[in-house]
Amino acid sequence: MKYLLGIDLGTSSLKGSVYTTDGKLIDSSASQYDLIIPAKGYSEQDPKEWIRAFKDVIKSLSEKIKDFSENLDAVSFSGQMHSLVLLDENGEVLRNAILWNDVRTTDQCNKIMNEFGEEIISISKNIALEGFTLPKILWVMENEPEIWDKTRHILLPKDYLRLYLTGNYNMDLSDAAGTLLLDVENKQWSKEIAEKFKIDYSYLPELVESISYTGNILDDVCKELGIKSKVKVYAGAADNAASAVGAGIIGNERGMVSVGTSGVILANKERITGKEDGKLHTFNAAIPNTFYSMGVTLAAGKSLDWLKSTFAKDLTFEELLTGIENVSPGSNGLLFTPYIQGERTPHNDSFIRGSFVGMDISHKLENFVRAVLEGITYSLRDSLEIIDGDEGNSVDTMVSVGGGAKNKTWLQIQADIFNKNIVTLEIENGPSTGAAMLAAVGAGYYDDFKRCAKEFVKYKESYKPHPENVDIYNKYYEVYKMIYPNTKDISKELLNL
Ligand code: XUL
Repeated sequence: MKYLLGIDLGTSSLKGSVYTTDGKLIDSSASQYDLIIPAKGYSEQDPKEWIRAFKDVIKSLSEKIKDFSENLDAVSFSGQMHSLVLLDENGEVLRNAILWNDVRTTDQCNKIMNEFGEEIISISKNIALEGFTLPKILWVMENEPEIWDKTRHILLPKDYLRLYLTGNYNMDLSDAAGTLLLDVENKQWSKEIAEKFKIDYSYLPELVESISYTGNILDDVCKELGIKSKVKVYAGAADNAASAVGAGIIGNERGMVSVGTSGVILANKERITGKEDGKLHTFNAAIPNTFYSMGVTLAAGKSLDWLKSTFAKDLTFEELLTGIENVSPGSNGLLFTPYIQGERTPHNDSFIRGSFVGMDISHKLENFVRAVLEGITYSLRDSLEIIDGDEGNSVDTMVSVGGGAKNKTWLQIQADIFNKNIVTLEIENGPSTGAAMLAAVGAGYYDDFKRCAKEFVKYKESYKPHPENVDIYNKYYEVYKMIYPNTKDISKELLNL
């Protein structure tokens, strides 16, 4: 029995999941690491910690699975997106990685959009956001020229782990798309963007597909890890692209809704239409020659966390959600906008703040809880509406993963607010499932992703929209959309006080 290892190099931990080649999850292990926050809005990590965590995970898996080290055949990755790793000519780390959730780069984003906005959108299909890699590179050039002088290689987190394992500098297209340096449609680094921002083309790694073979684990490293040699390493994907594969988002009929700290709406996109305006992110998908659109609600699960920690600290999440099924759709006239940390899609506004609108004397905690769940879901609908309006891009079923899939009432709310079927996964194991599937297809165990998904992805429950609730929610959603334009200036004024 051969094993496949899917590694998810996340923001707070590295998780490894071992699968058989026919899609059975054997076991998983994870190892945590810290965020380094040197100043407000900064978020960094030491790349060496990812390697340390990887070694911990291999050790733990070798202890849990007795024939792991002999039978491990192939590895692939899912990685936190956008986070900048800078290396010198010998591949040594020059500074801490600047992570996707670091927001120090507003000036650099403004500069990129003011000087080169239209070209950036037409080549990279995205706008400059604080989280993306190019603004982080410009920040280092401006603020740490001595680091930039020594830089010879630019990588993303999972590609740094690959360098340790194989000695090779590679990046897959789905992750490269999040740098703002990729010509997304033509699948190559953009010479125009690199030249415009004075980034030497040779610093960028060789581009590959997510299922491409990128070398074997080096013999020395195998010895250090205590595994047999000749383990094959496949390129892997950005975490959202890998999650999509792991949720069985293979063709165009299903999309994904994922609620973690932030919330994501994602759907595959057959081709670039030329109409991409940057409202949604448009990235290359893990499945070769396909793309996906994605919208992000910054504070999704975070809004519910905030409500609980502020107003109901002593309750468990289960207790907090008890009783929301008895509140009618629309929470008896209470609306919530989840802009408590600003909003990404569709407003891209870091100054907007959240609100409860329509509070009255009859509202109880369960109205507030349901209003928060509904508000998060309206915000996700904002992204879904743009996806649905995009040519040839209509999905009829959404696979719900993460925190939003843990509560039956919330799943029905998603079906009713989106007016789509919602399905859940039988085993939810996050992006590491997708990573293992990339290794499975890469290593030739399956000819295509449809066959692979048949073995690896099983659906559990299904929720259909209730037409009477859809009607009610359509009316509430129209009012919800009025809140942003009417609170935009108020939010700014408040921040200025
Ligand atoms: C996507 C984004 C996050 C990261 C988390 O644009 O910023 O979802 O992928 O790793």
